[in-house]
Amino acid sequence: MSELTLNQDEIKKTGLDEARPDLSRHLEIHQALHAHSLTQPDDFWANAAKLIDWDKTWDKVLDTQNAPLYSWFSGGECNTCYNAVDRHVEQGRGKQVAIQYVSPVTETEYGITYDELLAQVSRLAGYMDAIGVKKGDRVIIYMPMIPETAFAMLACARIGAIHSVVFGGFAASELAARINDAKPKLILSASCGVEPSGVVPYKPLLDGAIDLSTHDVEQCLILNRSQYHAELTKGRDVDWQTAVSSARSIACQTVAATDPLYVLYTSGTTGQPKGVVRDNGGHGVALAWSMKNIYDIGPGDTFWAASDVGWVVGHSYIVYGPLLVGATTLLFEGKPIGTPDPGIFWRTIEKYRVKSFFTAPTAIRAIKRDDPDGDFLRDTDLTCLKTLFLAGERCDPDTLHWAEDRLGKPVIDHWWQTETGWPVAANLMGVAPIQVKAGSPALAVPGFEVEVLDEQGEVVPAGESGNVVIKLPLPPGTLTTLWQNEQRYLDSYLSMYPGYYLTGDAGYMDEEGYLYIMSRIDDIINVAGHRLSTGRFEEVLCQHEAVAEVAVIGVEDKLKGQLPLGLVVLKKGVFLSDEELHRELITLVREHIGPVASFRLVSVIQKLPKTRSGKVLRGTMRKIADNQEYKAPATIEDPQTLELVRNVLTRMGYADALIP
Ligand code: COA
Ligand code: AMP
Repeated sequence: MSELTLNQDEIKKTGLDEARPDLSRHLEIHQALHAHSLTQPDDFWANAAKLIDWDKTWDKVLDTQNAPLYSWFSGGECNTCYNAVDRHVEQGRGKQVAIQYVSPVTETEYGITYDELLAQVSRLAGYMDAIGVKKGDRVIIYMPMIPETAFAMLACARIGAIHSVVFGGFAASELAARINDAKPKLILSASCGVEPSGVVPYKPLLDGAIDLSTHDVEQCLILNRSQYHAELTKGRDVDWQTAVSSARSIACQTVAATDPLYVLYTSGTTGQPKGVVRDNGGHGVALAWSMKNIYDIGPGDTFWAASDVGWVVGHSYIVYGPLLVGATTLLFEGKPIGTPDPGIFWRTIEKYRVKSFFTAPTAIRAIKRDDPDGDFLRDTDLTCLKTLFLAGERCDPDTLHWAEDRLGKPVIDHWWQTETGWPVAANLMGVAPIQVKAGSPALAVPGFEVEVLDEQGEVVPAGESGNVVIKLPLPPGTLTTLWQNEQRYLDSYLSMYPGYYLTGDAGYMDEEGYLYIMSRIDDIINVAGHRLSTGRFEEVLCQHEAVAEVAVIGVEDKLKGQLPLGLVVLKKGVFLSDEELHRELITLVREHIGPVASFRLVSVIQKLPKTRSGKVLRGTMRKIADNQEYKAPATIEDPQTLELVRNVLTRMGYADALIP
């Protein structure tokens, strides 16, 4: 494997090439690396590209031919599975644990070595090849947090098939929407997931989704777990174990660096999810670079991202990132609390000698709520742990300080999104850790030129809020387009400010360039680190026959950061008790979006506040709910509607009476 010496090389190029400099110079190093990445992107990324193995060197590092659609390493060829699995075996890491599975919900723990991973993945890939799954075909993976889910992703990568993992907490109709868009040749699934509340059968959801979808699904490979046995559908379903045990292994197929590795659907402002497309070459390079330089992880280290493979964190930092650099990744099927107690994270870190740990602020808030004094921490020896990384939602300073005080380790907030695939702003813990400022994910990472703009596209002064954008080109590893919908990619991200990518986040930058990400500028909400679209909630609630109109907003929640809250206007002449209506609406959301939506807050309102042109004032309602200052827009149709909202929200326990 290539030497992971990039950071030292890079430091030398900045002219700051003394022996490891002290903390006071780290800010300079970060800035110098950042400047190098922007002024000489070809040099910077060609150097980073040494972190992975190539079958054919690229013709161009940055290809600007189709700007504003850029590509990286065009003409290059590689295989992501080879880089994540085979090369480690070839270089003597076969006996090292690649995936450490820890499942408190099933009371199971075991490690899978790189040798075993290679055997599993190459046989599964062999099976897929044998049934005719070819390079470029899509494969949907609807599976829980078990090692087979990682095998499935890597097997797709091995033969050049494009995987699309769908989070297990989504309902059948969400899965159906993704099936319709991705048009998979094959679906890989398991009989069930296991949640603290019990076993969640996946098979009925899968069957329901296939019934709902307009795409003809030819085959499903079903992994029967011991917790729940699923009956296979004749003529369509195949038993995973039987299929794989008799399959022959297959070698990695070379793909173009620019070929898609996966499509991951994420919430947009409308109900239709966006299929974020990730390539092979740039993705491998960026993730390998980030493992070393941001997360301080190299071969043989143990890394744990406590997320789910259904989200981008799971793609980048449970599966691909750690495996690309020959580390051990910990795959955890459980929760921070209740499985069985708030000490499970700490005991797991201690037992498996985790060096860097990544979770969402919500998880820390949950632990803090159940174990405020950190009693469960006291009996654990966490000397192995160097850094706690937090992302997925804004990290409030209280949560950050609580974790810092209890752990006595650096707690690093960092900011990114499904679209970017890896951190946009972070503290480079593997090369030059800088001062932590609570509430800030620190500085833009090399490769990302972040600016804060006003509505006219002017850069706002330090400390002033605006739209957070990234100057094009985005670095390797970021989205290349939206699946089968380039126009939506251009319209959603590149059209508001030509030459820039719109992140959809609002915030500000301080004098030193530290970013502060405060909120979304669109209708996306963040519930326990899960990104959801209020537009989708509204679509679903409108399906109820009693509902004439609805607005869904995200309101502050102490545990989950935000919760969805629905305000519904009923059709005339509807006679339903509040209780009945609540129950039916909550069930509707659960059935159509899924339990992960955590939808429980809903109330009837006489009329929604709107502008004269009919735009619902969701932003103003959110401010009222969260007791923030607000100003009714001059274009409001009926100012009294805001009073109505305030009264309803106050009754629901939001918007106290002190608001202006
Ligand atoms: N499959 C099936 N159902 C799932 C699921 C999955 N993969 N993931 C979640 N659900 C269900 C849960 O069982 C729960 O259902 P319920 O309403 O029947 O109880 C519902 O979806 C909400 O789950 P969750 O968001 O996990 O909330 P919770 O109230 O059960 O637990 C926390 C609260 C704080 C412990 C939990 O939200 C958590 O661990 N947060 C960390 C978030 C995180 O890691 N995010 C990753 C982004 S980087
Ligand atoms: P997702 O695409 O699901 O990863 O969600 C990305 C969104 O989550 C971002 O656009 C932000 O709105 C929010 N987010 C993620 N990390 C952070 C962070 N560290 N600070 C503030 N917001 C964050």
